[in-house]
Amino acid sequence: MKTPVRIFLVDDDELIVTMLTRVLKGDGYEVRAMTSLQDVIAEIRSWAPAVVLLDIRLPLRSGIDILKELVEQELPTQVVMLTADDTAETAVKAMKLGAVDYLTKPFNVDEVKIVLRNIVEKGRLKREVDYLRKVHSELFDKDIVGDSQPVRVLKQKIEKMADAAVSTILMTGESGTGKELFARYAHRLIHHDDRSGCLPFIRVNCAALPENLLESELFGHARGSFTDAKTDKKGLFELAQGGSILLDEIGDMRLNLQGKLLRVLEERTVRPVGGTAEVPVDVTVIATTNRNMSEAVERGEFRMDLFFRLSTFYLHVPPLRERVVDIPLLARHFLSVLTKRYNKKTIKSFSPEAEKMLIAYPWPGNIRELRNLIERLVVLESAEMVGPEHLPGWLTSAAAQSSRAAADKFALPEKGVRLEDVEKDFILQALDRTKNNKAQAAKLLNISYDTLRYQVKKLGLE
Ligand SMILES: Nc1ncnc2c1ncn2[C@@H]1O[C@H](COP(=O)(O)OP(=O)(O)OP(=O)(O)O)[C@@H](O)[C@H]1O
Ligand SMILES: [Mg+2]
Repeated sequence: MKTPVRIFLVDDDELIVTMLTRVLKGDGYEVRAMTSLQDVIAEIRSWAPAVVLLDIRLPLRSGIDILKELVEQELPTQVVMLTADDTAETAVKAMKLGAVDYLTKPFNVDEVKIVLRNIVEKGRLKREVDYLRKVHSELFDKDIVGDSQPVRVLKQKIEKMADAAVSTILMTGESGTGKELFARYAHRLIHHDDRSGCLPFIRVNCAALPENLLESELFGHARGSFTDAKTDKKGLFELAQGGSILLDEIGDMRLNLQGKLLRVLEERTVRPVGGTAEVPVDVTVIATTNRNMSEAVERGEFRMDLFFRLSTFYLHVPPLRERVVDIPLLARHFLSVLTKRYNKKTIKSFSPEAEKMLIAYPWPGNIRELRNLIERLVVLESAEMVGPEHLPGWLTSAAAQSSRAAADKFALPEKGVRLEDVEKDFILQALDRTKNNKAQAAKLLNISYDTLRYQVKKLGLE
């Protein structure tokens, strides 16, 4: 059974108190009443009612005074004022002070019921929104995980751009590197929207729609501007007013539309398709792409002027393989988030060998690929610790290959080397292996016979 909602009555009129108590109890509320003012605040604090019905005119203290105190103490209770005079003035004052509503005496019971029902419903919605917001931010975009140098630098740059309240940002990076996540981070900082999701953040995929549709999607259209345009329609730029618009895959936007976008960025107004009026837009534009933009410009597929306009504030999100220190952090982060999400708590950790493989694997799909892998493990595996045997074969073999490649590389010692010593050492090794056969040794070193002879003499190796 649901716990009943608590209503607290403060009124010196016994008749009203008796009547309301009966009616509200009949409606399933839990009701307490006070006709004297002794300890009224303490009583409200300890009983914690959802709503207080508070008479404005009380014998010892005015209801307004009590309201002030309730608000000051930030008690989580909603106050509805009861007033006898219908001069709206006191009621308005009460609302300004923090009351949610007021009822003018004499009121009928239906009025009271409606006011209470609205308050209770609002409270329920608010709790639901708070809850969803919390889940949403936990699951998706609140935390940028990563402690690598590139991620730290990226965050710092975004913070500086936000301080300067820049209006356009270009973000490049391979697919799945977290461009959208960083874009949302920039959005929140620029608009001081730390409660996440209060200001519009609108994402448009510029590659998904044909040019003319994308245009009316972005800028809106006037009624009758084309066959299907039965009414005026606001574009996404207008809907993002006061917030940000994320132009995803900007590199795939058609040239013609690029020109129109450039105009919007320069004038900060949009003109709906088929319309004449210019609508001012105050929107942060964050464009992202996984294409190499300078190459696209060189090939004539992207307008140079637009590229310059977009790239004043430019950010590159590096691929995961260039920030390997983040791999274990991200793997553990996704493990914790996804076990919660699927309510499957079997997997607790990764074995050191498994972690090594995750680090060695080159992650062509970047963080999205890592997340998907962990999601699969969480749902399908029943071991407590993920070992290499739980990882897909293609991953372990690619990991083995790339660690072999890494091991084959010559490691530069911490303190540096004398290049001449390295040369000497390799020539000696080559001569050693070929039993002093200079022709064969030269082949191993990829140099000519004469060069080898010259080096041997120069380095005093005879
Ligand atoms: N540093 C990070 N910390 C936590 N999660 C991350 C991080 N980077 C990316 N992710 C997650 O990885 C997934 C892919 O990120 P995102 O969608 O931002 O990538 P993208 O660069 O926009 O990819 P695409 O180019 O394919 O659109 C998302 O689920 C995102 O939340
Ligand atoms: Mg994206």
